[in-house]
Amino acid sequence: MGSGIAHLAAQGGYDVLMQDVADEFVQKGLDSIDKFLTKGIERGKVTEEQKDGVLGRIRGTTRIEELGDADFIIEAVFEDLKVKQGVFEKIDGLVAPEVILCTNTSSISITEIAAATKRPDKVAGMHFFNPAQLMKLVEVIRGHYSSDETIETVIDLARRMGKEPIEVKKDAPGFVVNRILMPHFIEAIRIVEEGIATVEDVDTAVKLGLNYPMGPFELMDFTGNDIGYHVMEYLHNELNKELKFAPPNLLKTLVRAGRLGKKTGGGWYDT
Ligand SMILES: NC(=O)c1ccc[n+]([C@@H]2O[C@H](COP(=O)([O-])OP(=O)(O)OC[C@H]3O[C@@H](n4cnc5c(N)ncnc54)[C@H](O)[C@@H]3O)[C@@H](O)[C@H]2O)c1
Repeated sequence: MGSGIAHLAAQGGYDVLMQDVADEFVQKGLDSIDKFLTKGIERGKVTEEQKDGVLGRIRGTTRIEELGDADFIIEAVFEDLKVKQGVFEKIDGLVAPEVILCTNTSSISITEIAAATKRPDKVAGMHFFNPAQLMKLVEVIRGHYSSDETIETVIDLARRMGKEPIEVKKDAPGFVVNRILMPHFIEAIRIVEEGIATVEDVDTAVKLGLNYPMGPFELMDFTGNDIGYHVMEYLHNELNKELKFAPPNLLKTLVRAGRLGKKTGGGWYDT
């Protein structure tokens, strides 16, 4: 996600410093941006000049200290509160006091991440969707202490990066998209569990009956069934064990058995 976000910022005309913990990860990010732009040229959507312009505005580093001159920070490290708090605490001590710090977290509380800093009013969520270059939405999430000025600046930046932002007015689990998406996935799996329709027919029903571009099972395979399972568990725990967020047994068993999931391979159409 970090490289996609760096790409968007550079495309918006900003100079970008992309930091990771090891050279190989920095290089992987730069290579993926290069590959994305090369494909764009092949499809006639990007010119050589634009590609050179974007790549020329992005520099990679493994040294977090080099972020000290940044005017704006967007963090996209592992989805782990302690790791994110560690990064925020360090960056808070490096950059000027007026700099806004954003997190691309998909689920963690913005307020808890901001607690690692001395500027909680200047911390907000900036949730891009995968692949960041293609998906139009950015959820701009207000932490408990985020100021109006911070939220306005983040919304403005999202627009300058070519995105359509929405404001999430409260730091609530799942924000907006995942809060809607998880019950949609869960209900689709329950329909299969109950023998009401097959995986293929549920996808066809949703695509043709609701005019969605992808069926729920195709989308779960694309975004990762293991990740989906963890997001459901997270929402179920955080939102008072509401049944609508409880991961169905079929998903639990297949993920735990290694039959579904990005790391272990396998999709719903093979089950
Ligand atoms: N993958 C998605 O579909 C998606 C969508 C929206 C948001 N997100 C969020 O984006 C964030 C990153 O997700 P991802 O899928 O890109 O993960 P990833 O594991 O592919 O990438 C994370 C990167 O962070 C680096 N990293 C880890 N600790 C670091 C540190 N202390 N300092 C600097 N770099 C560090 C890792 O080396 C790695 O390159 C997470 O918060 C995730 O929830 C992911």
